[in-house]
Amino acid sequence: MKIEGSTVLVTGANRGLGHAFTRVLLDHGASKIYAGARDPGSVRDADVTPVRLDVTSMTDVVAAAESCADVTIVVNNAGISTGSSVLAVDALDAGRREMDTNVFGTLAVSRAFAPVLAANGGGALVNVLSVLSWLAAPSTALYCASKAAAWSITNSLRVELHAQGTLVVGVHCAYLDTDMTAGIDAPKLAPERVARSTLDAIEAGRTEVLADDISRQVKEALAADVGVLYPMLAAS
Ligand SMILES: NC(=O)c1ccc[n+]([C@@H]2O[C@H](COP(=O)([O-])OP(=O)(O)OC[C@H]3O[C@@H](n4cnc5c(N)ncnc54)[C@H](OP(=O)(O)O)[C@@H]3O)[C@@H](O)[C@H]2O)c1
Repeated sequence: MKIEGSTVLVTGANRGLGHAFTRVLLDHGASKIYAGARDPGSVRDADVTPVRLDVTSMTDVVAAAESCADVTIVVNNAGISTGSSVLAVDALDAGRREMDTNVFGTLAVSRAFAPVLAANGGGALVNVLSVLSWLAAPSTALYCASKAAAWSITNSLRVELHAQGTLVVGVHCAYLDTDMTAGIDAPKLAPERVARSTLDAIEAGRTEVLADDISRQVKEALAADVGVLYPMLAAS
């Protein structure tokens, strides 16, 4: 499908990758952008339409699906990372919050907008995942678990929505230069690059975006022995 002329809802559009998506979509000729945000007042661009959308609130999700009935592309971008390990004192609480936003929020928005996309000709549903859908980083274990679950749900959505002509795109990348990684000193991708790669995938009808070498390498290594992705196990 073409980005030009599309009407798009982006969740978590007030900053980070979500904001980058809104700018790149407009650059590619999208006609209308609904910028979903927990606080619509935090959306500062005059050329998008702010929409109150906390993805963990069914009231917000249902209202958004009603008020954005002309949407042809949905970008499930909203996400949180608590940086909780499995043995952290607050692991269960942190994990539940990550699951609520990254998994059930994505699921709720996808379910609410599936009929909207169907009514508008099929369109595309984009789920922002991570390289950590495929790699457990112990220091942020519950976030990884949430992205693995979101990946699985993305695959199910892809199969179920195939019949209505909706392209479901999973986006995998390593570190992005956003608030989420502010405390991390490592090479980071510009979020605009990931947004552009995703729009290319939509236009080409591709179901997966591997935005960087790390994502490509980790995906390939899944077929190998566990020690390839977790060399510290082999060392001990
Ligand atoms: N940064 C990375 O290295 C990286 C790598 C791979 C994947 N990702 C994924 O990329 C996506 C965007 O992350 P980012 O890096 O742009 O992070 P970010 O800068 O922390 O931005 C997160 C966005 O999600 C919104 N959000 C959080 N909880 C929400 C909720 N319940 N309902 C609606 N919006 C909510 C935030 O809104 P508020 O302003 O209200 O908090 C904010 O707009 C996430 O899914 C993340 O997991 C990030």
